[in-house]
Order: sequence, then C-alpha cells, then structure tokens
Amino acid sequence: MAENDDIRQRIRTIPDFPKPGIMFRDITTLLLDAEGLRLAVERMAAAVDGPVDLVAGIEARGFLFGAALAVKLGAGMLLVRKDGKLPGATIAEDYALEYGTDRIAIHADALAPGARVLLVDDLIATGGTARAAVRLLRKAGAHVTQASFVVDLPELGGADALRGDGIGVHALVA
Ligand code: PRP
Ligand code: HPA
Repeated sequence: MAENDDIRQRIRTIPDFPKPGIMFRDITTLLLDAEGLRLAVERMAAAVDGPVDLVAGIEARGFLFGAALAVKLGAGMLLVRKDGKLPGATIAEDYALEYGTDRIAIHADALAPGARVLLVDDLIATGGTARAAVRLLRKAGAHVTQASFVVDLPELGGADALRGDGIGVHALVA
C-alpha cells in the first residue's frame, strides 16, 4: 500500500460541488471513521518539527484536526475565525477569493510574542486562506514556520506559495 493510502481511501470525492467542474474532496468520511481519524491525527502529529506552543486552526474544518493535534502535542489551541465571530478585540487579515475578498481574524491578545505556532487546516488549495493566516499570526508576533494539512491540491499551487513564505508544509495526501 502506498503511503497514506489508508487515509486517501477514506476521503470521498464529490463531483460538481460547490459548482460544476469542481471535484470536491470531502473529509467528512474520514472524520466518521474512528480508525481513519486516529491515523490522520497521529501521522500529522508525527510530522511536526520541534516544540509547538499553540496550534492555530482555521475555521471550520481546521478546528477539528487542530484541536486533536493540540491535545497530542501538549499545545494550546488558537482559533483563526471568519471575521465577526470573535467577541474580544481582534486583528484581521483580508485575502482574495475568486470573486471578492474574505477576512479572517484572531483575538489580539491570543498569543505571546515569539510563541511557536503550528498552522493546521483540513485542506490547502490556492493557499489564499493559509497564507492570510500566516500573515495574521506573524502580525500578532507569532513564530510560524510550519503548517499541516490532511489534503494538498498541488495543481492549485497553494503549498508551494506557502513554502515561498518560509513555511514548512506537510500534507498527508495530495
Ligand atoms: C476551505 C478549506 C480551507 C480553504 C482552502 O475552507 O477548509 O480552509 O477552503 O482553500 P484555499 O487554499 O484556496 O484558500 P472553507 O472556506 O470552505 O471553510 P469551511 O472549513 O468553514 O467549510
Ligand atoms: N474540498 C474541501 N475544501 C475545499 C476544496 C475541496 O476540494 N477545494 C477548496 N476547498
């Protein structure tokens, strides 16, 4: 069996979602499978390089893997949320979508300067979301050098762009 084929087999592909021509990689089937979820979290944790103070998970699916990884790594969990959801004072970062822009935010007091932060999400496609998260975390004073994903869609170039930002990128499957 090729590397992580047991993970790959548990991810479902739904054609034409959210619009015609898109092959949507659906990780809900991986989450539903106790063994698959355990393997995914253990392998993501094993690939982490050095100590981590905080895991930063990106809303919404990044929270799931992020929190599980935080527990395994003995780190805290920092929420990177869509703008307007956090109750305290926030700092935000915009990023481009196909049409228009979106904005993510963290609590302004969420991290101490120099905190070692691992970025986590379920999937990297264009990298717009993850790159904005890195800019935001760095603006807040974080030391962000690595990011972990379940799925990379390499033809969309996001992982390479993130590497260009100085981030070590790990994904279980491409
Ligand atoms: C998806 C995915 C990543 C992002 C990847 O999230 O979970 O966060 O898109 O795309 P990109 O690399 O092109 O930026 P989505 O915005 O669908 O949010 P959700 O997890 O709340 O469904
Ligand atoms: N699956 C899940 N999330 C996504 C995808 C996908 O294929 N593409 C962009 N975000």
